[in-house]
Amino acid sequence: MRFSKAVAALALGGSALAAPYDGDGPYHGFGMIAPKVMIVSLFAPEANIWFTNLPSSGLGDLMQVNITAPGLSMLFPQIHCVADFSICQMTTGESEINAASTVMAAMLSGKFDFRHTYFLIAGIAGVNPKHGALGSVALAQYTVQVALQYEFDAREMPEGWSTGYFGYKTTAPDVEPGNAYGTEVFELSSTLRDLAFGFASKANLSVDPIASAYGKRYAGFEPASLFAAATHPPSVVKCDTATSDVYYSGKLLGEAFEDVIDVWTNGTGKYCMTAQEDSAVLEVLVRVAIEGFVDFSRVILMRTGSDYDRPPPNMTAFENLRVAKPNGYGIAVENIYLAGVEIVRGILKDWHRTFHRGVKPANYIGDIFGSLGGKPDFGHGSTTNGTGYKPHGRSAGGHRRTSSGMGRKAGYV
Ligand SMILES: *[C@@H]1O[C@H](CO)[C@@H](O)[C@H](O)[C@H]1NC(C)=O
Ligand SMILES: *[C@@H]1O[C@H](CO)[C@@H](O)[C@H](O)[C@H]1NC(C)=O
Ligand SMILES: *[C@@H]1O[C@H](CO)[C@@H](O)[C@H](O)[C@H]1NC(C)=O
Ligand SMILES: *[C@@H]1O[C@H](CO)[C@@H](O)[C@H](O)[C@H]1NC(C)=O
Ligand SMILES: *[C@@H]1O[C@H](CO)[C@@H](O)[C@H](O)[C@H]1NC(C)=O
Repeated sequence: MRFSKAVAALALGGSALAAPYDGDGPYHGFGMIAPKVMIVSLFAPEANIWFTNLPSSGLGDLMQVNITAPGLSMLFPQIHCVADFSICQMTTGESEINAASTVMAAMLSGKFDFRHTYFLIAGIAGVNPKHGALGSVALAQYTVQVALQYEFDAREMPEGWSTGYFGYKTTAPDVEPGNAYGTEVFELSSTLRDLAFGFASKANLSVDPIASAYGKRYAGFEPASLFAAATHPPSVVKCDTATSDVYYSGKLLGEAFEDVIDVWTNGTGKYCMTAQEDSAVLEVLVRVAIEGFVDFSRVILMRTGSDYDRPPPNMTAFENLRVAKPNGYGIAVENIYLAGVEIVRGILKDWHRTFHRGVKPANYIGDIFGSLGGKPDFGHGSTTNGTGYKPHGRSAGGHRRTSSGMGRKAGYV
């Protein structure tokens, strides 16, 4: 109720803002802030690297505008913007619940017009040494909520299983789940991902000698070629992310979730980064994209490697996670900015010619339900026969939806 009143007031010309908008962004609409880029950080170091460095880029200072909204994180109660509102930044707080809560608060605040905004989710992550080194920057097409499964402690799992994780309504690992909650897999525009990759590739990434030496140890595995990525300097790569509240670590879970991503994306996704928020942020963006608040083809997911998800040869999982000092954290945080600022610059520079209008995705985008329309190229197919869901709970035919998402489609039992 209060939300719709606020929106109505804004529509009548009221402004929720003290600061007048005088940027050249085309969507000033109703006194709402219409950033061209919204940076989504997950915790303080990922935010601070932007606060510290952005002023010297010439793109602005994120401390020039502070905006509060009910429901933001108590640790990060402000959304920040540069003076012309072209770039804003929010910090969600760590893990899935914080990430979803914060992003939804921003979406429903009534203070922003995000219809043309590019979201840059930019955080550190565990990196799979098969696809990247410490400090590497991954741009993802998929994120998979890998721990959304049954789990037996490995000591109690059936004889011969490779992992205690197995999908709902299945009886063995590495089988596609029999039903869907909706947040299993999100797919982003590979067209935009490729453009972001081009921009990010201009960056001269930070390198650390201790981190490089640690990566070279993975050459001790057979075949060494499988782990070549870890032995090279950090680079920008195209590969996908796992989301899990459990901060898992070790070869066996790494390989188990590699397989989950392979199976759940129908053989397309390539697991290289593990973090605790991506699926949560993207679920919120899908929900509000149904309402037309955001354009889901404008989402970029970037993760940088701060530690390896599994140990090098002759080291235990415990030593890799808690004892060894591979020194990847500092360069991971620095490379968020170094790669990220090139993406922001690329979007702003080409705003009028390309990005304001948007970049048409060549692939399916959205969730496992096909909520935004089209046919998912993974999972059990669209729950709406390709039409997608309509705003305000209406079906494609204009009827109000009442059924739950579960079991609606044949094959979902
Ligand atoms: C915005 O908040 C930061 C602290 O988070 C503060 O340092 C800065 O001065 C504030 N900016 C304005 C314009 O009030
Ligand atoms: C990277 O380094 C090269 C060589 O020093 C330089 O020409 C280029 O401008 C640098 N790129 C960035 C984005 O700073
Ligand atoms: C691992 O340890 C074994 C036994 O000590 C040794 O033979 C092997 O060379 C070591 N491998 C690496 C990559 O350090
Ligand atoms: C999964 O991949 C197979 C083989 O490429 C393909 O035949 C099938 O249509 C795909 N499934 C979906 C849902 O696109
Ligand atoms: C699903 O859509 C196709 C066309 O895309 C149509 O031929 C078919 O009848 C539809 N099925 C249902 C159950 O609406």
